[in-house]
This record gives sequence, C-alpha cells and structure tokens, in this order.
Amino acid sequence: MQTENLLQQLLRKNNMKKNIKLVAATVVAMGLMASPASYAKEIVIKFSHVTTEATPKGKGAMLFKKLVDERLGGKVRVEVYPSSQLYGDKAVLKALLLNDVQLAAPSLSKFSKYTKQWALFDLPFLFKNPQSLNCFTDSPKGQALLGATERKGIKGLGYWLNGMKQISANTPLITPDNAKGLKFRIMSSDVLKAQFEAVDANPQKMAFSEVYNALATGVIDGQENTWSNIRSKKFFEVQTDTTISNHGVLEYALVTNKRFWNSLPTDIRMQLDQIISEVTAEVTQFALDAAVKDMKTVADSGKTNIHTLTDSQKQQWVAAMKPVWAQFEDQVGKDNIAAVQQCNAQN
Ligand code: SIN
Repeated sequence: MQTENLLQQLLRKNNMKKNIKLVAATVVAMGLMASPASYAKEIVIKFSHVTTEATPKGKGAMLFKKLVDERLGGKVRVEVYPSSQLYGDKAVLKALLLNDVQLAAPSLSKFSKYTKQWALFDLPFLFKNPQSLNCFTDSPKGQALLGATERKGIKGLGYWLNGMKQISANTPLITPDNAKGLKFRIMSSDVLKAQFEAVDANPQKMAFSEVYNALATGVIDGQENTWSNIRSKKFFEVQTDTTISNHGVLEYALVTNKRFWNSLPTDIRMQLDQIISEVTAEVTQFALDAAVKDMKTVADSGKTNIHTLTDSQKQQWVAAMKPVWAQFEDQVGKDNIAAVQQCNAQN
C-alpha cells in the first residue's frame, strides 16, 4: 500500500517518461526491502523464558537451538535466555511484539491481555491427566484455539506440556477448609484467582521469579505448581507441606511475533516448523519424565511432607472449586469444555 502511494505521488508530480528510471529504481529498492534477500544475513532468534534449563521448557529450548544449529547453521542462530535472565513472562510478550525477542513459551495462564479463551486451561479439575490435555491440544478444537492470539500479533507455534499442578503451604492442605485465609501466589489469571477465592483463600498475582523469596519471607503462605517447577525453583524447601492435588495443568504456548515469522523465507520457515514439531514431541516426554523424577526428588529430600488425598478428600476440593467453571464457560467456550471431557473419557 505504501509502495503504491509513493508510486502514485511520483507519477503525479513528474512526467512519467522522464521519471521512468526513478520509478523503476524505487520499485526494485522496495522489492528488495521486502524480499527474502534481506535475509542474506544470519537470522537471529532470541528465545527468552523463565524456567531453568533443567526443566521440560528449558530442555525444549536447548533442543530447538541444537537442531537449528545442525540443520540451519550459518542461516539461523538461536540464542536462549532461561531463568528470566532477559525478561519475565509479562515483559516478554511486550518484547515479542516489539520483535526484541522472537520466541517465548509462557504459561497459557499469562495471556489474558491477548485472549480470554486460553483461560480454558486454568479451569480447576478440568483435565483428568496430561494424556487428556495432549488429546485436546492435538484435536481440531485445540489446534483452532492455538490461533486465538493471532489478531493481536502473537502467533502460536505449538503447545508445550509441563504437567499437573500440586498445591503447597506451611500447613497440611487436606480439605479445602485448610486453605481458608491463606495467601497463595497465582499466575496472572482470573480463573486462578476465582479458584482460590472459591476456597476462601487470598490469591496474589506474582511473577514466577519472585515466588521463592515471597514464600521464604512469608509474604505469601502457599503456591500451586508442577513438580518440575517445585523442584527446580526449590519451593519445597520453604513449604512444610505439599499435597498431590493434580487440580490443574501447566501448559505453555510456544509463541512468536507473527510479522517476524511471516517475513521468514518460506524454506527456512518450513524447516523451523518441522524442528518445532519434533521438539514439541520431545518436550512432552521430558515433561512426563520430570513429573515422576522431580516428585521423587522432592519426596526424598524430606523437606516437605507429601500428602496423598483420599477419594473423598479430593471430592471436597472438586466440589469447592468446580463451580468456577460456570463463571467462565461463555468466555472459554462450552464446546471446548465438552471436547476436553471427551478426551477425559478416552484417557
Ligand atoms: C513457567 O513454568 O513458565 C512458570 C510458571 C509460573 O509462573 O508458575
């Protein structure tokens, strides 16, 4: 459109014959600016994330870098910045939109500014297990949902699994009553806020990088996260009690700047897409392994008492938290909830 306007101005202001060379030169220059030839230089992809390298996401980022080095070395270079070194999750999405970083993988709970639909993944006790979550994200509905942030300039490239969340505090959390009045750190999600309010607790939105100190100093009483994050961020060292609640899921969206991605030469973009699909499958395996291994590490440390709920105790948590669904079902789509339930039935 800008090219067209410029051409029209040139043609209006000047005699066409006299200026034909100038017009041709302008077209060539503008064509060059927009063409893949501008990528004769190495393409740099900065991947910023908040977990350590020894987590499913951290390993996924490093594997992505390795495969890009092997297959596209010299054309594409990946720089990985783990542990909030470059940006926290809130800032990273702004940086992504400014094209200051090109890849990030925040939790789906952290996108409420860009889409309300991904709140689906925060509904308490919606997903039965990681297999059911994968079943949904692989389904046509799950894949359609991945496009929910595109109109805001953020392109979803894939879902990356972390796993089921557990709940912890400095007191045993056996029934919902035990959570009453306690301050729990949550990610920036209104569903998670409603979930803790449903058990009369006080949810506090807080960046991941601040949670350990907030727990250690008593600014907050408890938290919810996966075994991988509880282990890698040492939350278990500052929480006397951890309950195997499996009450929610932590799932990431691997995202990029839509304009950046679409501007890549087609062959490079296709190879990156292929690498991402291979890495995504590996991340699933890293996450499933981490859930078992990290839970064992936490249990073996002896630093936090691990509680297993009876069926009847678990049902009390479900009864207290599940009413939250009704508050958000229009926003996240009843059809999506039904699709997850179908996956639950199969897994
Ligand atoms: C992450 O796994 O990326 C962090 C999740 C959180 O903020 O709890």
